[in-house]
Amino acid sequence: MTLTATLDPRPSIASARRALAQSFRRHGLATPELDARLLVAHALGLDHAALAADGARTLTAAEAAAIAELAARRRAREPVARIIGVKEFWGLDFKLNGGTLVPRPETETVVEAALAVLDRGQGRCAALKVADLGTGSGALLLALLSELPLARGVGTDLSRAALGCARDNAAALGLSARAIFVACDYGAALRGPFDLVVSNPPYVRHDDIATLAPEVRVFDPLLALDGGVDGLDAYRAISTAARHLLSPGGALVLELGAGQLGAVEALVAAAGLVPVGGPRDDLLGIPRALAVKLPA
Ligand SMILES: C[S@@+](CC[C@H](N)C(=O)[O-])C[C@H]1O[C@@H](n2cnc3c(N)ncnc32)[C@H](O)[C@@H]1O
Repeated sequence: MTLTATLDPRPSIASARRALAQSFRRHGLATPELDARLLVAHALGLDHAALAADGARTLTAAEAAAIAELAARRRAREPVARIIGVKEFWGLDFKLNGGTLVPRPETETVVEAALAVLDRGQGRCAALKVADLGTGSGALLLALLSELPLARGVGTDLSRAALGCARDNAAALGLSARAIFVACDYGAALRGPFDLVVSNPPYVRHDDIATLAPEVRVFDPLLALDGGVDGLDAYRAISTAARHLLSPGGALVLELGAGQLGAVEALVAAAGLVPVGGPRDDLLGIPRALAVKLPA
């Protein structure tokens, strides 16, 4: 079904939005109005305010065709962030490419937990060294650097496409002078000591990947999702590596998958890392970030 098939041939911006939302609702998409607004705004190159102000304007045929093309991609379950090529995280815009995960709102819990650890210790204005293992678009590292004016950081990834994207994001955010990006297995090429190591690693159990929503299963890179048979492969590697990467008293803050808290607590404890405060919940009440440190 195309946009023009559901509307008069020259719909207004507002009626195109409504038709799109209706079509997305019929397709069972979770946030039809929001998706319609973002896609129409993107197709027309308008911001939120201009979209509302121009609602009565009639679309040109080219504009209607552009909207219809984006709508078809969304109905095929491509996430809006991938279609428009950008996702907001921690109030910053992150460009995406095929090698990057779309940064998730719950990952902001890791940023909050890391800042809370620093607020109890060295503070935000120290000359900190930060590492982000499995950096993807650079979301975690760059969000942290935006809050830590004297910190420097390194992001690692196995995906060169992701690293290129992270570098572009660092440049766009004015953080290039304080962020470098390195291709390696988690912390393998890094030399510490780091005051702070963060990671949102791949943590989906291999057999669960087939059950994920198409937006994730089809469009997020497998390398960003697959945590091995029990979902814990990355936590094993990172908790072992953290002992060599962290300065005495330095903190490791990990994102957790739902239900993984106990298993990850056991892994970090076995690596000699001790808890800093309790786990931090995301907005749904799921324990999402675990902070531990290397004893001083
Ligand atoms: C869940 S994604 C997180 C991306 C980003 N940190 C975020 O929160 O949006 C995990 C990332 O780890 C990377 N990755 C997977 N295995 C890795 C490994 N062995 N060493 C380094 N990075 C790895 C993936 O390419 C992906 O970018």
